[in-house]
Amino acid sequence: MSALSELYREIALCRRCEIAKSRTRVVPGEGAENAGIMFIGEAPGWHEDQQGRPFVGPAGQFLEHLLTSIGLRREQVYITNIIKSRPPNNREPLPIEIQNCSEWLDRQIQIIHPKMIVTLGRYSMARFFPEKSISKVHGTAQKRDGIIYFAMYHPAAALHQQSLRQTIEADMLKITAVLSQAETVAEPGQQAQQLSMF
Ligand code: URA
Repeated sequence: MSALSELYREIALCRRCEIAKSRTRVVPGEGAENAGIMFIGEAPGWHEDQQGRPFVGPAGQFLEHLLTSIGLRREQVYITNIIKSRPPNNREPLPIEIQNCSEWLDRQIQIIHPKMIVTLGRYSMARFFPEKSISKVHGTAQKRDGIIYFAMYHPAAALHQQSLRQTIEADMLKITAVLSQAETVAEPGQQAQQLSMF
């Protein structure tokens, strides 16, 4: 069994949160085990809960459109969420749920070992860009411990707020340049490196 399949098996058995009992299906994540880019959203919604797959509803369609804009298909990247069960009525994830699921996300990152982690939305950003606000940090990258972290607004934000659509599209287009720039940037000691172009 591959490391990811074993992890998915363990995630499906996890009952640490109440929401594990109310979900239809667990949504661990999906994509290539050797993906260079990992996208981390917030939590499964109704469509994801029905299918057991991340980003398959309207926000997912927009994410696929964004991926196409940089020449990628969803099978070429890895897509997951901060939490793996759908909160009832799509409420926001609770701190305890984020904490309970953090072990799963850590192990996904260890297994995939991506070059770049793209955070989608506030909850995912808060984990990798603590103390920052999304309106300031979106479209910027930092390199830490060999991984580039790049923050974006959540794709669903464009569905609710048309004015953010162009911002999200423009941020997505930076990814290719950030990746190629980051390969040539050394990390100074343990300090996070703010990539200069962005
Ligand atoms: N929104 C998310 O954050 N994740 C999904 O999987 C779907 C919608």
